[in-house]
Amino acid sequence: MHEQQQQQTQYEPKIVAFLCKWCSSAGSDLAGVSRIQYPANATPITVMCSGSVSPQYILSAFNKGADGVLVSGCHIGDCHYMEGNYYARRKLYMVSELLQFIGVEPERFRMSWVSAAEGTKYAKVVRDFVEDLRHLGPQDKLKAQRP
Ligand code: FES
Repeated sequence: MHEQQQQQTQYEPKIVAFLCKWCSSAGSDLAGVSRIQYPANATPITVMCSGSVSPQYILSAFNKGADGVLVSGCHIGDCHYMEGNYYARRKLYMVSELLQFIGVEPERFRMSWVSAAEGTKYAKVVRDFVEDLRHLGPQDKLKAQRP
């Protein structure tokens, strides 16, 4: 097999997933306990609310080698802190714009709204994201070059 083809078939995208404790983190747990099959490419980080995710966290994840970053919270209108996900949506929209501005595919950043009862949806979000990242290939622009 050609070396480049071999690298593509072996490429497993790394995803950092910031999940709100009240909804999406519980949704990912439900996917697990329901034994729903989905790729194990996402490393979950539980946060209190999607609104608590700073753009800096996202850039830092890319800098540390993430190929994609997911922020997932309660459905709009269901935030445990009333308006946190509204702030998240506005604030993190700017991240997509920034990524595009600096030449990183904005598709590497994704937001989703997954409730505690939506294990199937969480699995689908991760599955779709992994598929899309496979097409984009590894993220090297923001990844720190370490000796
Ligand atoms: Fe879930 Fe705010 S508590 S998005």
